[in-house]
Amino acid sequence: MEKNNGAKRDFGSFHSSNVEELIHLSESEYKSPKLDVAFDLSVFEKFEFGSSDLKKNFFYLDERFCFLNHGAFGLSFKPVLDYVHEWKCYAESQPLRFYDRQIMPLLVDLIRKFSSMIFKCKPNELALVDNCTFAFNSLISSLDLSPGDKIFIFSTTYGVYKKILKDYCIKKKAILIEEAISFPIIDEKDLMQKTLGKFKSILSEDEEDKKIRLVLIDHIPSNQPFLVPIDRISEYCKSKRSDILFVVDAAHSLGSVKNFTIDQYPNIDIMFTNCHKWFCGPKGTGFLYVKEISFRIRPSVQSHGINSGFNSEFIWSGLKDYASFLGLYASLNIWLHYFGGFDKPIEYCYSMVRQASEYLKNLWQTSFMVDPSLCSTMVCVQLPDSFVRNIIKNDDLESSFSYNDAEIVQNFFYFSHSIEVPIKYIQNSLYVRLSAHIYNKIEDYEFLGDVVMQNVE
Ligand SMILES: Cc1ncc(COP(=O)(O)O)c(C=O)c1O
Repeated sequence: MEKNNGAKRDFGSFHSSNVEELIHLSESEYKSPKLDVAFDLSVFEKFEFGSSDLKKNFFYLDERFCFLNHGAFGLSFKPVLDYVHEWKCYAESQPLRFYDRQIMPLLVDLIRKFSSMIFKCKPNELALVDNCTFAFNSLISSLDLSPGDKIFIFSTTYGVYKKILKDYCIKKKAILIEEAISFPIIDEKDLMQKTLGKFKSILSEDEEDKKIRLVLIDHIPSNQPFLVPIDRISEYCKSKRSDILFVVDAAHSLGSVKNFTIDQYPNIDIMFTNCHKWFCGPKGTGFLYVKEISFRIRPSVQSHGINSGFNSEFIWSGLKDYASFLGLYASLNIWLHYFGGFDKPIEYCYSMVRQASEYLKNLWQTSFMVDPSLCSTMVCVQLPDSFVRNIIKNDDLESSFSYNDAEIVQNFFYFSHSIEVPIKYIQNSLYVRLSAHIYNKIEDYEFLGDVVMQNVE
C-alpha cells in the first residue's frame, strides 16, 4: 500500500490534489502513475479498414443499419468502452482509493500524454473537459465584455453557440456580427474569398472595428462541413489586432484532420475538441487548450480546485463518472500503436468520402456544397430535386423546399431502408451529409445511391 508522500494539497481533503505540482514537473522529473487496469493491445488482430471483421471487433454498430452519420455523435471504439467498463468496476471496488488517491494523478498523466504525444502544447495549457459545449460555456462565463463590444462569427457557427452568444450579447449589450458564408464553395480561391476575405473588410483602423473583441470560428462546421482555413485567418487577425481573442471550436478535428497539432496554430488563443467524435473515445471526453497567459478562463462548473490554477480548476467538477476519461488510455494506444498514427486511418476516410461523394454526384447528376478537396471526412452532396419531390409528395416545381422536407427525407431513409444519414437544408436545396470512418466501405454509399435512383420520378 502506498504511503502519503507529504505532497502539498491544493484543494479539499483529497490525498492527491497536488495537480499543479504534477503538471509543472519536467519530463525528466515526472513519473507516470501505475495503471491498476491494464489495456492489452496485443489481443487484437490486424483488420483491414472497411472490413466486416474490423467493424465487428472495433464497434458495437447494429449490422442492420447502413450507418453514414459518424459526424453526429461519433462512435466509441468497442475495446475502449470495454476498458472504461473495467475502470468503472475497479472504481466501485474501493471508491476512496480511486477518487481520493488515484483519479487526479491519472487525469494529470492523460493531460501530459495528450499534450506531448498528440497536441504538442504545454501540459499547463490543456484541460480535460466533458465536451465542447462545456468548454464553450466556460469561455462565455469567463468573458467580460462591455456594452458596444463585438463578437465575430460566421453563419456556419454551431447553432447552440449562436443562441448562447445572442443571449450573452443581449445581457451585456454587446454586438454579435454574423457574416454569411454562401455556397457552393468550388475551389481554394473561392474558399479564401468567402472566409479570410471577410476579415479584410472588417479589421480596419475604424473605431467601430476596433470593438471586435472575440472571433469564434468552427474549424469544421457541422451542417456545412469543410475545412475552414483557421491558420490563415488567425494569422491575419492577429497581424491586424493582437488583442483579439481568437477562439476555435474544433469539435470535429481530432481524428479527422491530418496533423492536427496545436503548435502549428500559434495565433489561436483558445481551442477545444471532442474525443468522442472522430477519435472514437468514450462519450463525455474532450480537451480545452488555452494558450498560456492569453486569457483567464474558469470552468462553468467550479469545485474544490477554485483559485488553485487552470488545471486544478478544470480537473474536478464534482463527483461524476471519471472512468470515461481513463478510456482515453485505450484510445491513445489504438491510434498510436494499433494504427501506427493518424495518417493511415484518416487517409482511408478521406479517400472513401471523396470516392463516395464523386460517385453519388455523378449518379444523381447533382453538385457538391463544398468541393471534397476542401473537406475532411464529411462531404455534402445535393439530392436530386425529383427524388425529394417524390418523397415529400409535392410535384409543384415552383415551390421551394424547407427544413421540414429535410426531416421527411431523413425519416424516409431511416424507416424505409435503415439508412442513417443526415439531410441538410441549405440555401433552398437538400443535401446528404456523408461521413466516412474506418468501418465504412463503398457499398454503403452505393446502397444509398440506389435507393435514391429507385425513387426518382
Ligand atoms: C461544430 C460543433 N461544435 C460543437 C459541437 C458540440 O459538441 P458536444 O455536444 O460534444 O459538446 C458539435 C456537435 O455536434 C459540433 O458539430
